[in-house]
Amino acid sequence: MQKFTDSSKRLLDFIEKSPSCFHAVENIGRMLEEHGFERLYENEKWELARGKSYYVTRNSSSVMAFRIPEEVFTGFRLICSHTDSPSFKVKENPEMETDRKYIRLNVEKYGGMLCAPWFDRPLSLAGRLLVRQEDGVRQVLVNIDRDLLMIPNLAIHMNRSANEGASYHAQVDMCPVFGDETSKDGFSSMLAKEAGVGPEDILGTDLYVYNRQKGTIWGANGEFIGGPRLDDLQCVFATLEGFLAAEEKKVTHVSVFCAFDNEETGSVSRQGAASTFLQDTLMRISEGMGQSAQEYRMTVAGSFMISADNAHALHPAHPEMADPVNRPQMNHGIVVKYNANQKYTTDAVSAAVFKRLCEKAEVPYQTFTNRSDMPGGSTLGNISNTQVSMRCVDIGLAQLAMHSPYEMAGIKDTWYLQRAAEVFYRTAFCFGPGEEIRFQ
Ligand code: CO
Repeated sequence: MQKFTDSSKRLLDFIEKSPSCFHAVENIGRMLEEHGFERLYENEKWELARGKSYYVTRNSSSVMAFRIPEEVFTGFRLICSHTDSPSFKVKENPEMETDRKYIRLNVEKYGGMLCAPWFDRPLSLAGRLLVRQEDGVRQVLVNIDRDLLMIPNLAIHMNRSANEGASYHAQVDMCPVFGDETSKDGFSSMLAKEAGVGPEDILGTDLYVYNRQKGTIWGANGEFIGGPRLDDLQCVFATLEGFLAAEEKKVTHVSVFCAFDNEETGSVSRQGAASTFLQDTLMRISEGMGQSAQEYRMTVAGSFMISADNAHALHPAHPEMADPVNRPQMNHGIVVKYNANQKYTTDAVSAAVFKRLCEKAEVPYQTFTNRSDMPGGSTLGNISNTQVSMRCVDIGLAQLAMHSPYEMAGIKDTWYLQRAAEVFYRTAFCFGPGEEIRFQ
């Protein structure tokens, strides 16, 4: 039981230190460097060597790390997850005054969130500033590490139908209170102070609202965890831990860890799963190790991807919303996701490979499909497959309250995924001329 508690505590600590996608990538970079990974830059020439480990970021919000084996490689082994979570992004010139009594911040939705749970709780801001310096501009990450904002509900007395299905208008209802009338014109100076620059030097901002409530372990027997951004930092953290633990160099594949930004808005951006980031990086690894264009395509054909994004557990009050048979339960293992219309990439082949890996790792797995009359969401696997096509399985960890600012998951599942990821990266397997797979 201790191993489950330990991995969950480490996860909650990682989440607390990662209030925005930029902070998550910065923390991932630090962990990679502690394990001897060398940082590469996309606008520089890469000199890669066998047996070495590297990482590269794009937009400071997506990251790919890889380990080149000592042997000749014939495939990539990838696990992809996402760094972003639904939130509210601060707009330009955000201060708005109400009746000369309050200053609120003008925000817009980022991704598809549950609005109601953002009300009546301490919130703050994190993200990045671009600031003027002598010879250009530089990026500064900021986290206003105190209770700064709140979105107050309208009292029941003024909204008698509040409990009968409320609707929320982002522009009217969701703009957080920043202060009273004395806070007027104080927003940029607060940011400037945080970054140690003058207010006039702030030339760009990407700032997101985040929930200040810390993660916790709870339940009658401590069986659950609660916390912000479990979707998808739980998968990011678990697969990173597995990747770092799998220091195997005597394999015939390149192990790749990917965490992409902008999954919550459809992945279409310079750094999302639909961008060229994945393909550019894989091609550069291949070229850097002397492979021809044909050999690159052979390597991709021998590759396998795990797309890791959290899954819906059976809801205690609404079991009717789940598929009649495939009903994931928290703490009961990694969820393999299926969808006939290819929202999830899992097919018989990739499911079979993944189940064999779980057997080798001695971790349980379970299955998820949407109700046949509900469309469900999409994720990274099918989108990245339009850029680099390879065998892929969609998996995740069972959770509740997805896209709330405070979500719920199981205490054991982070460890299960960590363990499965480690075994995946350590295991050499190849594909035969049919759809057979041979473990080596
Ligand atoms: Co997700």
